[in-house]
Amino acid sequence: MTSMASRRAAELRSAELKKDLGRHNELYYLGKPEISDREFDRLMHELQALELEYPELATIDSPTRRVGGAPSEGFEQVAHDPPMLSLDNTYNLEEVEDWVDRLERLAADEELSYVTELKLDGVSISLLYKGGVLQQAITRGNGTVGDDVTENVRTIRGLPLRLKGAPPERLMLRGEIYMPRTVFDELNRQREAAGMALYVNPRNTTAGTVRLLDSREVARRGLEVAVYQSATAFGPATHADTLGALQDHGLPVKSVWQRCADVAAVEAYIEHWREHRHELPFDTDGVVIKVDRLDLHTRLGRTSKAPRWAVAYKFEAEQAQTVVRAISVQVGRTGVLTPVAELEPIFVGGTTVQRATLHNYEDLARKDIREGDTVLVEKGGDIIPKVVSVLLDHRAADSQPFEIPSTCPVCGDPVVRYEGEVAWRCVNPACPAIVRESVGHFVSRNAMDIEGLGDKLIEQLLAKDLIKDYTSLYQLKEEDLAGLEGWGKKSAVNLIAEIGKSKHRTLAHVLHAIGIRFVGERVARLLAEHFGSLESLMKADNATLEDIPEIGPKVAASLRQFFDDKRHQQRLEALRDAGVNLTQPRAEAASVEHPLHGKKVVLTGTLTGMTRSEAKKRLEALGARVSGSVSSNTDLVVAGEKAGSKLKKAEDLGVEVTDEAGLVALLG
Ligand code: IVH
Repeated sequence: MTSMASRRAAELRSAELKKDLGRHNELYYLGKPEISDREFDRLMHELQALELEYPELATIDSPTRRVGGAPSEGFEQVAHDPPMLSLDNTYNLEEVEDWVDRLERLAADEELSYVTELKLDGVSISLLYKGGVLQQAITRGNGTVGDDVTENVRTIRGLPLRLKGAPPERLMLRGEIYMPRTVFDELNRQREAAGMALYVNPRNTTAGTVRLLDSREVARRGLEVAVYQSATAFGPATHADTLGALQDHGLPVKSVWQRCADVAAVEAYIEHWREHRHELPFDTDGVVIKVDRLDLHTRLGRTSKAPRWAVAYKFEAEQAQTVVRAISVQVGRTGVLTPVAELEPIFVGGTTVQRATLHNYEDLARKDIREGDTVLVEKGGDIIPKVVSVLLDHRAADSQPFEIPSTCPVCGDPVVRYEGEVAWRCVNPACPAIVRESVGHFVSRNAMDIEGLGDKLIEQLLAKDLIKDYTSLYQLKEEDLAGLEGWGKKSAVNLIAEIGKSKHRTLAHVLHAIGIRFVGERVARLLAEHFGSLESLMKADNATLEDIPEIGPKVAASLRQFFDDKRHQQRLEALRDAGVNLTQPRAEAASVEHPLHGKKVVLTGTLTGMTRSEAKKRLEALGARVSGSVSSNTDLVVAGEKAGSKLKKAEDLGVEVTDEAGLVALLG
């Protein structure tokens, strides 16, 4: 190949990798990963290698530049100083030995020894103690800026709010918040009993919990934390002594760390925990190996992403062989058909599994999984395992490829595939599976928030013809419920009252609850605030809808399609007749007109007249979006006292800048 041609090939491949990695990153954060972490890392390494060869491919938006995910909205954003790095991964002992060899070359004149620790599978947290008192807890966010979740973290019982002994004046620590497996299992047991969807794994549940806006709920969830690193030098000369000192100050340090004089001891530690990890009460996905002497940390330094003095060894997800008894199909709220493998029960990764998700038909076809096949299943941290591959030499001679059903397995209507989508869907709004799931969505927490209406009850109500869709919930009477098995008068009265209360939610809640394609919570709120009432929203044509910031042709078309459908019109009419509020409070509706509406604002430096979170709340109330980092998309930077790099960046990019007085004037 000529160098021109290989350059072109690299360009194409890197574009593809960037797109794929971006998508997989998003799926991961949604708790719906489609590929293993290992596969993700492999793609990332491939991209890194290409960018090393052709540096111009390392664009500013390349996933290789990211340390993690973006910070979420709703919490004050705080910069990490120093940044929260991630770790380079190794997957076998050879790679660990290579890492050790490299360090021995870099610090050739030194005697190296190590500390090994378990790699806890939770979410990382930065903890700041001042004068021995817990001041601030920040999530990792993108490594540079994270969310201030102090209120939530304070609820974690095992974390001292005040340190013992004579701690240093300022102590910045790094650790992991996690959910012990028994706590996770109990939470899921409760959810199952209430007929709610089960959580996927302890790590995602932890991430969701740490970000809950109600810290009382966090307190009920039984999170734990372990501290594994000090970002402040406070006396000890080694990492081992640091861990000892932190423990003496009353901090939760996992006791299973070990000093290792050489690479053989490191390997023995890895082997031991690979074998015994399922006996631990929490999830661990590997071992972290750190150079013990802290002066060498400084000397070895870091790359843009990770320190050179530490490395992670990732355990393999456990695999086992079993048989696919059948391939069944689930129909979700949006009508998407998901194939599921029903397995011969098998013990793997610490639990017995009997189902595995197959994601979608494309994936199923690619792996060519058939009923009766012997397959390799993999159990990572999730409760639902994955089918990795088919063992073809076990395949029966008469086996038939699995065929995509042309009709919905629940209602029998033909299934369709929208252009540009992988998923097959049932589009019959009366399909019993869709109705059941959409009632579940309608009553859920962030929608109409009707407490006490779990999946089991919904199923009973539908089976007994007491409801036909979400609109008939408002027709339910106490007598209807009192007749159900296990229902007394009191619980019936309570539920009817809860349903009644939901009539007073806002239009934004209703728009989210009725499940319009592409209309999630945020878009629902934008629409409700813009139009003020369902009536005027329903009258808007595509052009009017697309004029609204953040609403594109896709959303506009989906809205029109929904509102033009007779069946949806009837349901909305039924909600209106039942007395459900279909308007948005005036104050919020009026904010659309404000000049800050839809503007992207960054707050930096210290404000004197109000706190940053107060400023953020007021800006958001006027429809502005407050973000943590300055880019060319930023509309306005508010620079308080001692504003630093963000102010400079704004000036470099020519972004409009104002000071606190300017902000106060804008806020009116
Ligand atoms: S040390 C600068 N130690 O693993 C080094 N990290 O893949 C900071 N993690 O973001 C990390 N257990 O969330 C360290 N004993 C441990 C750990 C640990 C879990 C997490 C941490 C980090 C991620 C990197």
